[in-house]
Amino acid sequence: MMKDLVLKNRSYRRFHQHVLIDLETLRDLVDLARLSASATNAQPLRYVLSCDPERNALVYSTLGWAGYLKDWPGPGDGERPSAYIVILEDTRLSHPVHIDHGIAAQSIMLGAAERGLGGCMIATIDKPRLRGALQIPDQYEVLLVLALGKPRETVVIEEVDADGDIRYWRDAEGVHHVPKRRLDDIIVG
Ligand SMILES: Cc1cc2nc3c(=O)[nH]c(=O)nc-3n(C[C@H](O)[C@H](O)[C@H](O)COP(=O)(O)O)c2cc1C
Repeated sequence: MMKDLVLKNRSYRRFHQHVLIDLETLRDLVDLARLSASATNAQPLRYVLSCDPERNALVYSTLGWAGYLKDWPGPGDGERPSAYIVILEDTRLSHPVHIDHGIAAQSIMLGAAERGLGGCMIATIDKPRLRGALQIPDQYEVLLVLALGKPRETVVIEEVDADGDIRYWRDAEGVHHVPKRRLDDIIVG
């Protein structure tokens, strides 16, 4: 079951934008992050939730999508995420092992997948603009944005070719292909 959920938990970048996600769902997803591991149990992460069209538009305008798909500027109107979770760190509680946000993000994305939702972790963020748009106080560092929605694209996993090219690509039917390295190639000892 865990493997099924991990397989289902692909990065999706096109959505049924009209399928809304409510605040309670976002709060439930953040609760999964709250219950996850944290270095020294410092729990420095904080969250900003967005699920209304105006705020969503502000967040969307600060994000960079699918760097390998050079001719695609990101999801168009009607296929954009229905919600976002912005992951912040309270710099007064920072820990040198900077891993908590990855763990939190995965908990949230797995919870979303379990609910039939999907999304994408996004680190390509115009952070000053996002900070200004959402009026994020200086004590918080912007770390990651999780875009969420009802997926409207097919994503398939491939085995990396002999040439080792890990770049994802989209075929003529719009199917998104993600090369993953072979298990035997990543277990090195
Ligand atoms: C920390 C992190 C940052 C990412 N940042 C971006 C991003 O800025 N824009 C984007 O479109 N995808 C981003 N992704 C999604 C990756 O491109 C995606 O995970 C990768 O292509 C593998 O696809 P998969 O998640 O379906 O396995 C990010 C993923 C991670 C884990």
